[in-house]
Amino acid sequence: MTVESVRPGASEAAALREPPLAGGGLPVLGHGWKLARDPLAFMSRLRDHGEVVRLRIGPKTVYAVTTPALTGAVALSPDYIIAGPLWESLQDLLGEEGVATANGPLHRRQRRTIQPAFKLEAMPAYGPIMAEEAYALVERWRSGEELDVTTESFHAAVRVSARCLMRGGYMDARAERICDDLATLFSGMYRRMVVPLGPLYKVPLPANREFNRALADLHVLVDEIVADRRASGQKPDDLLTALLEAKDDNGEPIGEQEIHDQVIAILTPGSETVGATIMSLLLVLTEHPELGDKIRDEVENVVGDRPVAFEDVRKLTYTANVVTETLRLYPAVWILTRRAVAETELGGYRIPKGADLIYSPYAIQRDRRSYERTEEFDPDRWLPERAKDVPKYAMSPFSVGNRKCPSDHFSMAELTLITAVVASAYRFEHVSGSDSRPRIGITLRPRRLMLRALPR
Ligand code: HEM
Repeated sequence: MTVESVRPGASEAAALREPPLAGGGLPVLGHGWKLARDPLAFMSRLRDHGEVVRLRIGPKTVYAVTTPALTGAVALSPDYIIAGPLWESLQDLLGEEGVATANGPLHRRQRRTIQPAFKLEAMPAYGPIMAEEAYALVERWRSGEELDVTTESFHAAVRVSARCLMRGGYMDARAERICDDLATLFSGMYRRMVVPLGPLYKVPLPANREFNRALADLHVLVDEIVADRRASGQKPDDLLTALLEAKDDNGEPIGEQEIHDQVIAILTPGSETVGATIMSLLLVLTEHPELGDKIRDEVENVVGDRPVAFEDVRKLTYTANVVTETLRLYPAVWILTRRAVAETELGGYRIPKGADLIYSPYAIQRDRRSYERTEEFDPDRWLPERAKDVPKYAMSPFSVGNRKCPSDHFSMAELTLITAVVASAYRFEHVSGSDSRPRIGITLRPRRLMLRALPR
C-alpha cells in the first residue's frame, strides 16, 4: 500500500479498486442521516470498513478517508483542493475570495499577506492583550454567579482575535453581535451540509429566516469594521492594515470583495474554534479537578506570586499538555473536506477527478489503533518520551500542509495562558441546566455548559 496520493496512468487506473461502500445508507438521504444523527460515532466506526470508504450523501458519493497516514497524504497532496460539502456549506459566509476558501495562486498570495501576523516573532506583542483578557475572565467570575460558558468563551475568543489582529475599540461593541451571528450560522451550515435539501432551506421558516438574518448581519458588520478603520485614518501594524494595503500579483490594490472575504475568513474561523476549545477546556477542568490542582502548582512554581505573562507560556509545559490533550479529544475542527482535481490513487484505491473527500480529526485522534486508553484524558501522553510513539498525522488538530491553520502558535499561546490563569484562580462545578454532551455543528463543543467558579 502506498500512503502517497499519486496520479495513476490509464492502465494503472483501470487496475485500481473502488473503495468499499459503507453499510447503513438510506434511499435518498444515503448516509447523510447518520452524519446528521450521530456523526462522531459514525465517523469513528468507518475505519473498520476500510482505509477509504464510499458514502452517499443525498445524490452525491463522498470518499471518507480513515487512517492518519492517508489523511496526511490528502492534506499534503496538491491533487486535493479546498472544496467539497464542508466548504460549499460555508460559502455563503466565507465567500470565494478569502484565504480559507481560495485555491491556487490567489491562496498563496493571501497566505503571504496574513502570515507575518501569525509568525512566532509576532506573538510577544499579543501577549499583554491575551493576558488582559484572561484576567478579565477571572475578575468577572469573582461574583460567584452562574456562568453561561458559551457566552463567556466565545466573547473571550472574539475579543482576543479582534483586539490582537484588528486593533481598535470599535471591536468591543461588536463582539456580542459577532458571537450571536456565528452561533446561528455555524449550526445552520452543518445541517445544510449533511442534509442537503437545497430549495427547502429557502422556504421562509423561522429557522431559515434566522439563518439569513445572521448571515446578512455578519456581512454588514465586516463592512462596518473596514469603514471604521478607514475613517479613523490610522494604520496600526496589524493584520487589518496588512489586508487593506495588500496588492495583487500586478501590484494593484486588491478589490473590496477580497478585503471583505479576507476579514471574514480570519475572524470567523478564529472565533469559532478558540471559543469552542475554551469551552472544552473548562469542561475538562470541571470534570477532572486534579488537573486544575496540578496547573495551579505549575503556575506557582514557574511564575510565583506575580500575574502570568506571555513570557511564561513556554515554561508551562503541563498546562500546555492539558491544552493539547483537550485538542486531541475535543478537536474544534472535527471534520474536513477536500476535492480531487485529478484522478488519483489513494491507499490503493481509485479516486476519480472531482470526487469529494471527507475525514475527521475527531475519529483519527480517538482511534484505539493510534492511542492506548484512547478515551482517557491523559496530558502526560504529550511528554516528549511518550509523544514520539504517536503515529504520524494521528494528532493534527490544526491540520498540515498548505492549508494548515496559520494560527497554531497564536491559539496555543492564547489557550495555554487562559488555562493557566483561570485554573490557578478557580475550580469549577456544574450548575443546573448544564449539558456537557457534544454539540456538533461545523465545529465541535459542549452543548450548553453552565458552571460556577469556586475560588481556590
Ligand atoms: C485553517 C483549526 C484557530 C484562522 C484551519 C484548519 C484547521 C484549523 C484544522 C485547516 C482547515 C483545512 O485543512 O481545511 C484551528 C483550531 C484553532 C484555530 C483547532 C484553535 C483552537 C484559529 C485562529 C485563527 C484561525 C485563532 C485566526 C485568528 C484560520 C484560517 C484558516 C484556518 C485563516 C485557513 C487557512 C488556509 O486555508 O490557508 N484552522 N484553528 N484559526 N484557520 Fe484555524
